[in-house]
Amino acid sequence: MVQASAPGKCILFGEHAVVYGQPAVAVAIDQRMSINFEISENWRIDGMKFQNRKHPHVTALRTRLWEGGPPLSIKITGNIPPASGLGSSASLSVAAAAALRCARGRQIIDDDWAEGWTASRPNDVYNSAGIASKGDFIEHGASAVDEDECAILAHAVEAFAQNGKASPLDSSTCSHGGCIVLSDKVETHLNWLYSRNLNGVTWEVHSVKLPKEIEEAYLVIGNTGVHAPTSVQVEKIAKLLKEQPNRINEIETIGLISKRGINGLIEGDLEAVGRAMSENHLILRNLGLSCPELETLISAAAPSSLGVKLTGAGGGGCMVALTRDPKTTSEAIELAGGRTLISSIAASGLLVDNDSDCPLWNPLN
Ligand code: MEV
Repeated sequence: MVQASAPGKCILFGEHAVVYGQPAVAVAIDQRMSINFEISENWRIDGMKFQNRKHPHVTALRTRLWEGGPPLSIKITGNIPPASGLGSSASLSVAAAAALRCARGRQIIDDDWAEGWTASRPNDVYNSAGIASKGDFIEHGASAVDEDECAILAHAVEAFAQNGKASPLDSSTCSHGGCIVLSDKVETHLNWLYSRNLNGVTWEVHSVKLPKEIEEAYLVIGNTGVHAPTSVQVEKIAKLLKEQPNRINEIETIGLISKRGINGLIEGDLEAVGRAMSENHLILRNLGLSCPELETLISAAAPSSLGVKLTGAGGGGCMVALTRDPKTTSEAIELAGGRTLISSIAASGLLVDNDSDCPLWNPLN
């Protein structure tokens, strides 16, 4: 059996604007998706026959990492509500990519990790079993897994599901964990990880180490229960910008607010972070991305919060409040009809939880 898990994400600043290259910030949350694979007689998922069209993310990763491999029985568990803007699909894709990579190992040629991925080593955290030296062999288990690779695979899968319009924000945050900043240029005061390109947009992906002060606050996430697919919301903005090109000003203003938010985070200034979140929400609302259910939860949370906004694609899904008093904020949201999750800010990223039977398949045999 092989098992991996990855956190969900919560966007603090810059959703939608990030699709157009503006800076954005997301943090990993305590809630996670977990996936495990076992060799089986035929392809199964949660005890049922596996149907490609019902599981596009796993199907896409299967094609990429398991072509020619033996059938697997897949189990998915987790506490991230689906289609709510908390990165459940990116989290699942990252965990599935890690578990499949772990299950098949990696061919290493000379000093490079082969098979389509030759990441520079500093981002590799799964090297506790030792980094491969020269030679041509399979590195088994968790030490064959790389956060960059899982993030890039998950991004490809997300982009496919969102008609080619997807930033790497969700996939990078769910893979690396912590706090991730995307920008259109390398930000020298942040820890630059890598560049990503898609459909003519380039994102520079950074991680940010948050100061101690940030630990004084929590995120309270309120779920409206209203289902709003990301692809539909992303299309809505694309259409708006096509019809009214001057609305790009609002997208750029979100970028400016994100920058202020990033500075607040780095300085540990929770009040500044909260203010920027609430301002960000006003613009998202103006762009038509809120809904009455989100507004009700946001009004309920505001009195006990430092800042409050919708998070993710909007149109339903979730709002997030930054608060020093998570109990009061959570109760207020629940009283207003929302279901809440409480999370610390910047939880851990991808983890291989079990690689005891690895490899499940050796593609070189
Ligand atoms: C969805 O979680 C975030 C969006 O900005 C889309 C994306 O970044 O791909 C709405």
